[in-house]
Amino acid sequence: MKIFSGFSKMDRGLKLDFIAGNSHLKDADALHFRDYDSPDGETQQVFDGMIENYLGNFPIPMGIVPNMLVNGELFMVPFVTEESSVVAAASKAAKYWAHRGGFKARIVSTTRKGQVHFTWNGPKELIVDGFPEIKRQLLFSTTELTFRMRRRGGGITDMALLDMTSGLPDYFQLDVSFETAEAMGANFINSCLERIASTLSTLVQLNNSDFQVEIIMAILSNYTPGSLVHCKVECPAELLTGWNNAAPDENFALKFKQAVDIASLDVSRAVTHNKGIFNGVDAALLATGNDWRAAEAACHAYAARNGKYKGLTSVSLENHRFSYDLELPLAVGTVGGITNIHPVVKNVHKILKDPDARKLMMIVAASGLASNFAAIASLVTTGIQEGHMKLHLSNILNQLNASAVENEMTISHFTGKKISYSTIEDFIRQIRNKQ
Ligand code: MEV
Repeated sequence: MKIFSGFSKMDRGLKLDFIAGNSHLKDADALHFRDYDSPDGETQQVFDGMIENYLGNFPIPMGIVPNMLVNGELFMVPFVTEESSVVAAASKAAKYWAHRGGFKARIVSTTRKGQVHFTWNGPKELIVDGFPEIKRQLLFSTTELTFRMRRRGGGITDMALLDMTSGLPDYFQLDVSFETAEAMGANFINSCLERIASTLSTLVQLNNSDFQVEIIMAILSNYTPGSLVHCKVECPAELLTGWNNAAPDENFALKFKQAVDIASLDVSRAVTHNKGIFNGVDAALLATGNDWRAAEAACHAYAARNGKYKGLTSVSLENHRFSYDLELPLAVGTVGGITNIHPVVKNVHKILKDPDARKLMMIVAASGLASNFAAIASLVTTGIQEGHMKLHLSNILNQLNASAVENEMTISHFTGKKISYSTIEDFIRQIRNKQ
């Protein structure tokens, strides 16, 4: 085994040569890593500078979900996803609900938090009793860091000292609450926390030489149950007709509810159910330049907040009224991060009519609910394979290197029929054998 060093110092061409020389990649293949470079030099520089050891751009398709009606305002939502059926499914659900009043969303709260984890080897009372004054000084030490954020309506809103010694000897925590206005706020929060941590050490050293504070770490928490968005669709149950052109079925609402209730009972189903929500949530977060890993981590923890992992949606069918609800802890930004530098992300925000962070939270939640509604509605009617495979057809034809004529013949032959990879492969083979 050879451990490489100095890789990051090589220029891009050398890196590609090096990789081709030390992997199965051929020299000719290495050239293709430049295929997706921006023709505009300045833009290309942005990509180049975005991460360490940059090799090239990795294209993932971006599509549009039109007709996403959120609180009476119609949006076209850009989705970035590699999964062929995601945009089609969400578009279908968005249109379906646009005819039934659309998505009704509201922000429950927007608080984020960060933590300073530390040990204190002195008597508890000393730090607990002295905390009001310590807190005043810690907050004061961040004044210059929070100045701009305070002007934008954000800042540090609270700080609590938590005694965690029952879990770990001498372990205490500063639990700090933030409002971050239009930003996701990770850099702002982390800078404040690091300042708070170093001030805490200094204060204790100055005031008491007998005991010590040892800082373990200072970092934001990606668990954001204090930054909650709620989104729902609702209509009289008898209006829930026509999904997948299925005949009106009075059992549809009931079956739909059973399917959602199963996701509350059974973890295996809950994970898949929530994956369907993240088909939309992640695609919208990625397109808008937001951190979808943070959202996933937060929402999955939220799904298990009562001790058992459950589906994130719930249905009510009282008095023949269908109401379908989703609540997500999301921390999104419309400024900061890559939102102001990534050329596609900038245009995505324009397509969304430059929403503020609160509006974006609601659009993202609606995207998740639309994707999940489409999945459940299809599962309890025709099943999902019909739609999935139809959309997957072009991927299969690509894999089989089908020509334009073969594409056309295959599509017209399989219209209205069930398809699979092998049926398509056999059909293409037959066409080719006849030639
Ligand atoms: C596929 O990407 C997502 C689904 O499996 C979600 C679900 O089962 O609810 C269809």
